[in-house]
Amino acid sequence: MESTNGTAIEVPLGQVNAEIESFFESAPPLKDSADISKKLKEFIELNSATPGNGSARRVVCVSSGGTTVPLEQRCVRYIDNFSSGHRGATSTEYFINAGYAVIYLYRRGTFQPYCRSLPDDPLLECFEFIDESDIQVRQPYSEAVKRAINGHHTAVAAGHLLKLPFTTIFEYLQMLQMIAISIRNLGPHTMFYLAAAVSDFYVPWKDMAEHKIQSASGPLDMRLVQVPKMLSVLRKEWAPMAFCISFKLETDSEILLQKADMALKKYKMHVVVANELLTRKEEVIVVTSDEKIHVCRDKTRPGSDVEKPLIELLVERHSAHIKGPHA
Ligand code: PMT
Repeated sequence: MESTNGTAIEVPLGQVNAEIESFFESAPPLKDSADISKKLKEFIELNSATPGNGSARRVVCVSSGGTTVPLEQRCVRYIDNFSSGHRGATSTEYFINAGYAVIYLYRRGTFQPYCRSLPDDPLLECFEFIDESDIQVRQPYSEAVKRAINGHHTAVAAGHLLKLPFTTIFEYLQMLQMIAISIRNLGPHTMFYLAAAVSDFYVPWKDMAEHKIQSASGPLDMRLVQVPKMLSVLRKEWAPMAFCISFKLETDSEILLQKADMALKKYKMHVVVANELLTRKEEVIVVTSDEKIHVCRDKTRPGSDVEKPLIELLVERHSAHIKGPHA
């Protein structure tokens, strides 16, 4: 909740929990939840310290892409949230390079790790027939294709990348909860890097039309309910030892830092990464309880990105968190 002068007001956790319970109760059951649980369990075992495995890896959950809000149960129409998934995909590569195991919770159809240099339609643009039956990679794309296949397959085969797709706000929040609870026992060695653009309003499943809404009935009058923010419950209950980073996106630079500060205090995040829509690929501001650090892309290096210095800084802060009191 926000006061009229823009400062954060603490909402009692009991009230938040009731809203969250009601959200989950009304959500359609997650398809493939048994399969997701199994994949999570195997991934965590593989990256935990055992005599056979050697030392444990740090685990980060990177959320990426926008969630949708269906307007009909047999969904034809939906409301979407802006996010190409570029931030999440790029950051995933840097986390893996830094020695993390990444659970990539991503919106279907958005950017994927190691594939961001590929053209929009890779299958049709990158390949050509050399004769009637054989296909080869077209020269201009050969490096990008090799990088994509190599990087992706190596990370998956080594057990350093687990990709879990979502589409709706219901799937996203149910999966985020499953992930948080699954990695809770790894304590401070875990991180949440929540770059996904999450819907703020939704239609509860029970209030939703089953069939396609008919346009012949005239203008559409629909009530959307607020999606409960899961950040406080993630921080306090689902994964209390984890290092938690949320993002704040605004289009108005005047209010960006104030909103980021508020999110930091209200949800007790360790870090909020503030970014502005137009400059998000050039610069972000890392906001902590005592610092505001501008992190910029190195413009002197062609092809550089802001995620490289950002992830370096966050890995360093995570190391301090692991050594510290984990509060
Ligand atoms: O994907 P790209 O095109 O590369 O763009 C990256 C990005 C701009 C989407 C990314 O950098 C970013 O800013 N993501 C967060 C955008 C957003 O939804 O901000 P918000 O102010 O609505 O939410 C703030 C935080 O609260 C987010 O970390 C979100 O995960 C969380 N949230 C939001 C709503 C909600 N109901 N529950 C939440 O937990």
